[in-house]
Amino acid sequence: MERRIEKICVIGLGYIGLPTASMLANHGYRVVGVDIDRERVKSIEEGSLNIVEPGLKTLVSGAINSGNLKVKTTPEDADAYIICVPTPVKWENNLPKCDLSYVYNAIESIKPHLNDGNLIIIESTVPPRTTERIYQYLNNGRKIYMAYCPERVLPGKILKELVENDRIIGGVNRESAELAKEIYSSFVDGNIYITDSTTAEMVKLMENTYRDVNIALANEFAKICEEIKVNVWEAIALANKHPRVNILNPGPGVGGHCISVDPWFIVEVYKNAKLIRCARELNDGMPYYVCDLLCKELERRGIENAKVAIFGVAYKGNVEDTRESPGRKVIEYLLSKGISISIYDPYVKTFDYPLEDLKDAVKNADAILVITDHKDFKNFKEEEIREIYRLMRNKIVMDTRNIIKRELWRKVGFYVKLLGDGKGE
Ligand SMILES: NC(=O)c1ccc[n+]([C@@H]2O[C@H](COP(=O)([O-])OP(=O)(O)OC[C@H]3O[C@@H](n4cnc5c(N)ncnc54)[C@H](O)[C@@H]3O)[C@@H](O)[C@H]2O)c1
Repeated sequence: MERRIEKICVIGLGYIGLPTASMLANHGYRVVGVDIDRERVKSIEEGSLNIVEPGLKTLVSGAINSGNLKVKTTPEDADAYIICVPTPVKWENNLPKCDLSYVYNAIESIKPHLNDGNLIIIESTVPPRTTERIYQYLNNGRKIYMAYCPERVLPGKILKELVENDRIIGGVNRESAELAKEIYSSFVDGNIYITDSTTAEMVKLMENTYRDVNIALANEFAKICEEIKVNVWEAIALANKHPRVNILNPGPGVGGHCISVDPWFIVEVYKNAKLIRCARELNDGMPYYVCDLLCKELERRGIENAKVAIFGVAYKGNVEDTRESPGRKVIEYLLSKGISISIYDPYVKTFDYPLEDLKDAVKNADAILVITDHKDFKNFKEEEIREIYRLMRNKIVMDTRNIIKRELWRKVGFYVKLLGDGKGE
């Protein structure tokens, strides 16, 4: 089929934009990747990405070497523009609001380049009706096409999921959706479903809200089980034997800049979304809850001037992304209680607090608090655990993810507490 779109400008080269730009370039489009961050553009050109994602380096270098991808700090004329800039949440008078300033700035930067027949796709997560409003603003005196195409990839599996996941395309009209479909069809193996832009925006928010509310339910079960002395993990595993039940895992809180942020965009447009707000607040409270459980254990043993070694500040296992990580809240809370901390995370390269290697982190520590389910924490060998035991002052380990091999740690001599094991009080 003859392509109506040949040249695409991808605005924002982060976790979403860079893989998307490279994928399109590797599928024959002429792509201009744009990022306002000079350092990011430079590091992409030099092949030293600051995003750790399996296969990405090869994909990007393939795209650049083919001559189909160039990266720069300002947009240029193209047939289509794909917006992949951040959309964090901000608070105004205690009410959540999507910070659309990055999207608006991106739109302003492409506006001088727009010509009749151009297509603009928003991939950034936005509140319902945002695409429609931007279309009204831009279409004034021009004939442009516009669509909202939410990204659903999982960090750590971005390249696989970009290709395999089903895709939703929400056009402001049918022609826009069909034009956007032409682009995604070039590399998507999953099904492509067409709808209107506002429905597509809502679909994206519903997906992440569904996860958030269900994690909140698991967290509430964990708290109840602590109280009534039942092991929540065993109870969940048994409940999930029911053919229509699938309870998620509890944990130290929800991080990442999707699940912990996007539900607020629904609360923004519907203030009465009580369940969604409540789930968000419950999940946001989990870092403090797990710290309090640990502090109780430290107090019970009369440990003063405690030092806690935090294992994992990435928001989830086997990635280096620390955005909205529960680890940050855990650190702030423990420090506010006068507890010293050290941090060990084999994936994270830079963080707001100093990172240490394993031995330095556990040296003279009274407790280990496992916050992230990195596979490395599961794979500790007995000799390594013995070495950790030898280096620590007190031998407490609290696992908030059900990741460590508890029996092995116990065998070495540790007191092991698992979040929701019913032994908390
Ligand atoms: N990361 C994910 O897994 C994921 C999944 C689904 C949806 N999303 C959504 O996709 C969007 C982008 O997320 P991300 O994780 O890629 O963000 P990111 O922070 O990794 O990257 C965004 C990039 O945009 C750049 N930028 C900001 N303003 C710009 C402008 N005006 N012009 C050019 N570049 C600009 C930033 O410098 C940054 O490099 C967000 O709305 C996010 O919610 C992300």
